[in-house]
Amino acid sequence: MLVTQYFPRDLFKGKTVFVTGGGSGINLGVAKNFAALGANIAICGRTQDKLDASAADLRAFGTEVCSVRADVRDSDALEAAFEKANAELGPMDVLVCGAAGNFLAPAEKLSANGFKTVVDIDLLGSFNATRNAFEQLKETRGTILYISAGMAYMPHAFQVHVGAAKAGIDMMMKNIALEWGRFGIRANSIVPGPIEGTEGLKRLSDPAEKAKLINAIPLRRTGTVDDIGQAAAFLASPLASYITGCVVVCDGGQNLLGSALFNLGAEQMLHARQE
Ligand code: COA
Ligand code: NAP
Repeated sequence: MLVTQYFPRDLFKGKTVFVTGGGSGINLGVAKNFAALGANIAICGRTQDKLDASAADLRAFGTEVCSVRADVRDSDALEAAFEKANAELGPMDVLVCGAAGNFLAPAEKLSANGFKTVVDIDLLGSFNATRNAFEQLKETRGTILYISAGMAYMPHAFQVHVGAAKAGIDMMMKNIALEWGRFGIRANSIVPGPIEGTEGLKRLSDPAEKAKLINAIPLRRTGTVDDIGQAAAFLASPLASYITGCVVVCDGGQNLLGSALFNLGAEQMLHARQE
């Protein structure tokens, strides 16, 4: 359910929201929730077809959309993307750092480049976005939302690369909140739980085990992209104007279980692949 059920439809009217990795999944869901509340949206990613389809979806909300092909690992490309978005939509009020890569890999089989690739996309990519957005966010006294993961604060099997990258993001978020608060810039992280219909869930969880997963989650359901979109809209809104430096876990209580169920499922998925 989009946020328009709960928030005034013009909450972000005239505001610009830039979502890295906004061409699909959770990030696109976040972008749609901001679009439904009147924001103009900019998205970037590496795949033109995905960006074009998502831009069309977003325009259906009547929003202005700027979509740019840019790899978050390339700081110059992001700088150009942010300049284009600024020229077309005005300076950004909200930056969502959502671009990420993930796969299951046992630490002893993960190459240095495999580890580096995920750290570069998730952590360095989020820094590149943050750094290049500074002048615009300073102008708007804007806010940054990082899309983190439970791997940031709890070890998950075969996720050494992701845990390192997302833990880095959450600590970077706190440093940015500390340093840029004086410019009126807020920074927070959102930790999604297992979100239905996403690439992340497909890569990390066996659909045959879905009933077991749902029965274990305290709220007895998987999340939706709108659950994360609603959390994002709240955190970027004036309702959250004194909230900065926080990790907001939006997972139906899944973290309360620890990671044992995930670890077992991941082991089975890797085992099945080797057969
Ligand atoms: N297991 C182990 N290592 C893997 C791997 C896997 N499943 N997939 C990729 N790697 C390694 C590669 O072998 C390579 O290392 P090497 O040079 O030592 O062989 C390294 O990672 C880079 O792979 P490459 O395919 O060149 O990376 P890329 O930059 O094209 O793509 C990924 C990045 C690998 C993260 C890719 O999965 C991706 O694009 N993901 C985006 C979507 C996504 O992950 N969504 C879920 C978000 S939660
Ligand atoms: P997704 O659809 O694959 O989203 C990742 C997006 O990032 C894609 O649109 C991808 O597009 C883009 N991207 C990847 N590498 C990039 C790069 N180098 N430069 C620019 N863009 C890049 O997967 P998702 O599951 O919705 O995940 C979205 C976010 O939620 C991620 O941060 C993930 O860690 C987090 N998360 C997801 C879950 C879940 O249940 N799905 C749980 C916890 C956290 P291209 O490949 O076209 O570039």
